[in-house]
Amino acid sequence: MATLLVTGGAGYIGSHTAVALLQAGHEVVSLDNYANSSPRALERVQRIAARPLTAVEGDVRDAALLARLFSQHAFDGVVHFAALKAVGESVARPLAYYENNVGGTLSLLHAMQAAGVRRLVFSSSATVYGAPDALPITEQAPIRVTNPYGATKAMVEQVLRDLCAAEPEWSVVSLRYFNPIGAHPSGEIGEDPHDIPNNLFPFICQVAAGRRERLSVWGNDWPTADGTGVRDYLHVVDLAAGHLRAFEYARRHTGFEAINLGTGRGVSVLQLVHAFEAATGQRIPYRFAARRPGDIAACWADPSAAERLLGWRAQLSIEQACADGWRWQRQNPNGYRD
Ligand code: NAD
Ligand code: UFG
Repeated sequence: MATLLVTGGAGYIGSHTAVALLQAGHEVVSLDNYANSSPRALERVQRIAARPLTAVEGDVRDAALLARLFSQHAFDGVVHFAALKAVGESVARPLAYYENNVGGTLSLLHAMQAAGVRRLVFSSSATVYGAPDALPITEQAPIRVTNPYGATKAMVEQVLRDLCAAEPEWSVVSLRYFNPIGAHPSGEIGEDPHDIPNNLFPFICQVAAGRRERLSVWGNDWPTADGTGVRDYLHVVDLAAGHLRAFEYARRHTGFEAINLGTGRGVSVLQLVHAFEAATGQRIPYRFAARRPGDIAACWADPSAAERLLGWRAQLSIEQACADGWRWQRQNPNGYRD
């Protein structure tokens, strides 16, 4: 059993990971400023896992708060989700992104260093690969950032690599997520976008719920089988399990390791729409629209390093993710709000 600090624990991926950690018997302290989430998510996490966690409201950039937390708890490691994540907003507000994502991580690393806690699982993203030269994408593919959000992830990875080189007792796993979708099968926790969703899956859910009239499919002239964009969608419950494995790995190894978390399978926009329709019985009206600026044709993972190093592979289907995402949407039409 271990005690873990989970930053951004109330968020979409953080809440599902908190369930997995609690169910594995670990103690969880969540630190979240609720900038993009609700403390209600953490109430539901405790209900699902039938175990308590400690919820702290605060900012990872608050050095005094971190010093206090690290003196109150003997953490065995940190899982660091807290970040801003909207690509378009990062182009419009780069300083906020560098400040929160890079500055926040530096603040956390200083606190960890001072407390002698040197085990970290970091939320990176497949966005660091930009437009790939080859598919599937391995961890050796070049890093190519195309927007400030992606740049913050690449910068933090560089910081972590340098830190592990300078101080060999550190143990850092940077998980490069592909496209997480779905929700916990209980329907109690899920993704709760506050504005019009940028991402495909929550948009589809809102069309199914009647909150949006139809989906715009951005481009049907991509060099893919059906002309629509192809991504590697993985169930958020699988992704959460990957964090548990990454923490176990970090207990046994030192140094920096970047690892893809994806299914290894590319799915087009239309295939995801049809899978959703088949899994839920809901019809998703759509129309084709112009390509979205900055988009790429196709992106999917080579997940073999995750299997080799972590013993992890995605287990759940996109149909399962669609059914679970739809259950969350139906049971919580306004997310965590009343
Ligand atoms: P999310 O917005 O739901 O979760 C992030 C959480 O961090 C939120 O609860 C937010 O309130 C909190 N937070 C933000 N800044 C904070 C700060 N300074 N101090 C304390 N808390 C803060 O997003 P998510 O989808 O759960 O993403 C989690 C992580 O995974 C992020 O680092 C994100 O960049 C990364 N990621 C997400 C995706 C995706 O498609 N969802 C893909 C790749 C990587
Ligand atoms: N799409 C539509 N209509 C929509 C939304 C999306 O057709 O309303 C298409 C996109 O053009 C793309 C696919 O659906 O082909 C997936 O788009 P998402 O926005 O859901 O996902 P992206 O792969 O573009 O980006 C996401 C996150 C990034 C992250 C990246 C890689 O938004 O932050 O995955 O992990 F970096």
